[in-house]
Amino acid sequence: MNDRPKGAERVVLVHVNFPAGKMEEDLNELKELAVSAGAEIASVVIGTRRVPESKYFVGSGKAEEIRDHVLSCKASLVIFNHVLTPGQERNLEQLVKCRVLDRTGLILDIFAQRARSFEGKLQVELALLKHLTTRLVKGWTHLERQRGGIGLRGGPGETQLETDRRLIRDRIKVITARLAKIRKQREQGRLARRKAVVPTVSLVGYTNAGKSTLFNLLTHSSVYVANQLFATLDPTLRRIDFSELGPVILADTVGFIRHLPHDLVEAFHATLEEVTESDLLLHVVDAKDDNRTAHLQQVEEVLTSIHASEVPRLLVYNKIDLNPGMEPKMERDEQGQIKRVFISAEKGWGIKELVTAIGELLKKEMVQESVVLSPLQAKLRAYLYSREAVLSESIDEQGHYHLLVRLPRVELEKLFR
Ligand code: GTP
Repeated sequence: MNDRPKGAERVVLVHVNFPAGKMEEDLNELKELAVSAGAEIASVVIGTRRVPESKYFVGSGKAEEIRDHVLSCKASLVIFNHVLTPGQERNLEQLVKCRVLDRTGLILDIFAQRARSFEGKLQVELALLKHLTTRLVKGWTHLERQRGGIGLRGGPGETQLETDRRLIRDRIKVITARLAKIRKQREQGRLARRKAVVPTVSLVGYTNAGKSTLFNLLTHSSVYVANQLFATLDPTLRRIDFSELGPVILADTVGFIRHLPHDLVEAFHATLEEVTESDLLLHVVDAKDDNRTAHLQQVEEVLTSIHASEVPRLLVYNKIDLNPGMEPKMERDEQGQIKRVFISAEKGWGIKELVTAIGELLKKEMVQESVVLSPLQAKLRAYLYSREAVLSESIDEQGHYHLLVRLPRVELEKLFR
């Protein structure tokens, strides 16, 4: 995150401290977000207010101070750590003579850069368009919007931006319909998985924690017997056949940030459902991150807001290679419950411990049970054989199969519930 890209846009950050705010944390996060969007922070303007002011959000004296910073730093963008109304954004732009982006705009920009799947790209575009429609007003072209830059990526091209709201509304309709279709397919996929009792493990975590690195490591590692694309539609969902655990679906999800913009949570609802319906969450934490405790908390907040707080989770401390003294290991609490694992996704350290922990948490302990299958349940019988779960079998006069099977407890419960 600290690598400053070449040609970075020079920005002035604005943070206003309100009585209930956590000044330092909030400002640090804004800096991180801005840098990861490709900004070079030229200056930071800090203010204190009891309530926002309607014209510029800040008072007019502070607004002039921002304009002076823009001039002296030769900045081309101002980023507010708050949600601005379209009117405030426009008033500010007219005063400071450069683009002004609010917190939602900044986060949308980062998501636009990071969206990988077809669905993710559509979701971001939808959120961007919704954000833009409120800002498409007369006189909107008072600033030059021809070139790209922070807040201008990932969405529609400039020709579309400069046409009227009707076109944007049409585009929103098209995207919404496409997303609905994808969502249906996704639901069918999920249903099929549930039928096949394959557990789903989702990676969650603050942005940049290393989720994708871990995802790639787990899905490409030669330690595991096979690995195949589960759904072509969304490359972030893969099936892994762990040699010890059997099949597991691994899902990579969008990175979390504090106060995720509402439009975005809505847009990513379908993807986030994947998280809510998982059997286990791997909460990836950047062990090298000084703000990891705050970030951890923020991820928990998002999980609660999407009703996923009940899903069992495993804390995965990643990037231990950057922390001298940390070793790959699995840690348990006094009750013997797994607390967390320490890994390095980049170096491939601690993966054995991670897989052991996943297995244990998926309650993969094996149980033996006698079951009776009717002649109509041939598919289930075939599945049990394919899982090498059948210890013995006999058939009675009615054609019923009496099997002694050995399977992980969760799987058995799901199959014969
Ligand atoms: P988002 O897509 O923003 O949610 O990020 P992510 O959580 O998927 O993180 P990603 O896998 O993209 O990794 C972020 C950065 O951390 C990349 O530059 C990785 O190379 C780096 N990284 C990931 N794991 C490790 C690790 O174990 N050690 C080190 N040193 N770097 C790592």
